[in-house]
Amino acid sequence: MATMDKTTLIELLSAAFVLYVIGLYVYRMYFDRLSHIPGPKLAAASLWYEFYYDVVLKGQYTYKIRELHEEYGPIIRINPYEIHINDPEYIDTVYPGSSPRTMKYQWSQKMFGQRTDFFATESHELHRIRRGALAHYFSVQSLRRLEPGIQSQLDKLVSRLQGLKGSGTAINLLDVFASLTGDIIGQYAFARPYGFLEDPDFSPHWHALMIDVSMNGHILKQFGWMLPMMRAMPEWMVKIMTPQMLTLIGFQAAFRKQVIEVKERIARSEKSSGQTTIFYDVLTNPQVRPQEKETDHLQDEAQTIIGAGTVTTGHILAITTFYIINNPSIHEKLENELSSLMRENDGKPKWAQLEQLPYLSAIIQEGLRIGYGISHRLQRLFPDTVIEYNGYAIPTMTPVSMTSVLIHDNPSLFPDPRTFNPDRFLKQPGLKKYIFSFGKGSRQCAGLNLAYAELYLVLAAVFAPGRFKWELYETDITDVETKHDFMNTSPKLDSKGIRVLVN
Ligand code: HEM
Repeated sequence: MATMDKTTLIELLSAAFVLYVIGLYVYRMYFDRLSHIPGPKLAAASLWYEFYYDVVLKGQYTYKIRELHEEYGPIIRINPYEIHINDPEYIDTVYPGSSPRTMKYQWSQKMFGQRTDFFATESHELHRIRRGALAHYFSVQSLRRLEPGIQSQLDKLVSRLQGLKGSGTAINLLDVFASLTGDIIGQYAFARPYGFLEDPDFSPHWHALMIDVSMNGHILKQFGWMLPMMRAMPEWMVKIMTPQMLTLIGFQAAFRKQVIEVKERIARSEKSSGQTTIFYDVLTNPQVRPQEKETDHLQDEAQTIIGAGTVTTGHILAITTFYIINNPSIHEKLENELSSLMRENDGKPKWAQLEQLPYLSAIIQEGLRIGYGISHRLQRLFPDTVIEYNGYAIPTMTPVSMTSVLIHDNPSLFPDPRTFNPDRFLKQPGLKKYIFSFGKGSRQCAGLNLAYAELYLVLAAVFAPGRFKWELYETDITDVETKHDFMNTSPKLDSKGIRVLVN
């Protein structure tokens, strides 16, 4: 009898579950506020659709979204809650400046595990306050002051590369440039270059760590409870279950330690090194609110600044370097353009001088275009404005997004989009406004100026005429082309990197 009751209960619960799923499906399909937006029924019905493409197939939803646009048009519903638009002319509407107010999508912001940094901050107003406390460290003016610091790390790189000339040692440019950008931002943020450049192999663990953290993103987005749960579990258990999660937890703990160290230095009344360092400055700035000085918060800010400041610029540098080496005519044209500036400035021209060079500038735009920077869609929510697209009203508080991969590969703007062709920016300088690598509007990349300073200074240094002869080593286009979107871009998963020999 007891067995019968148990079976009936299970049957009843199963039937209730099936009814719930069907009811939810019908509701989302025909009655909810996004039911008028075109798109595949399965995507509108459940987040498992996105889960399949991004978690099971590892960062493939971006490419599926591209296919869906081909089928359903420029505005589509990509999951039960979110709309995606593929129309470069609509960028400024989805990504406005300070008005109308926009918010960040918390579901998506869980990707890297931070909670309170300004990158993840949901509210428009709080984002302005938090960004205000930090963004000025990345203004053009601040970076002109930082330039000698960037140059000194770059000098280290050049001398390491000179030491490798003719050695036959293959180096992975992804590691090389992640080491450089990591040391630059480490020095600026905490007055401690991490010493990545000094490692004989250019600290491959550093780039690998960033990619590990980034590969976790899709799971963390889908299962927001996972990271807090893992944090509460013993380390050995996390190691067995999801070793990548342990990497993220360790990564966050390292930033916490660095913030605490700065606080201890201040408590001991130690002066800063004389050069501006971001976290010392913020903590001693009376204009910054106490909430923005809390350890939990600064740990998150540190993770964003160091994380965002390293792998993105490093990737674009590596990818652009590959295309220059792989295209002798582009290489030659660049060397010719650089030659007099290099001669007149003892091989170390300033960022402001390099920015005046049209061909180098076009190469940088093309590197950003072809390498994307961030390959994931960037959502915005409009709390008090209904925006409209092609006659479709987008209700307030609906996450709406666009993606660099689709914009940068748009053949009407960029014919033959997978060909590296800097000339397109010389012929049509107006194309620059469609470069979406840094996002746009009020949440646009705060480190954009630092990224540009690094791109100009580093490319000029490694392609200074007569300084190095570069040769690709067991590397081809398949090691460069983005095949997976982990927010950060990733080539095929078994790639050994972008490897070169230096002579
Ligand atoms: C080529 C290099 C870089 C690329 C492609 C890039 C890309 C981006 C993108 C697309 C966003 C906007 C995200 C969104 O709208 O949701 C962003 C935000 C941000 N980036 Fe970058 N980034 C780069 C370099 C840097 C550097 C060097 C730093 C700092 C050291 C940095 C720090 C930040 C911060 C703090 C934000 C948050 C801005 C906000 O929410 O207000 N990035 N980045």
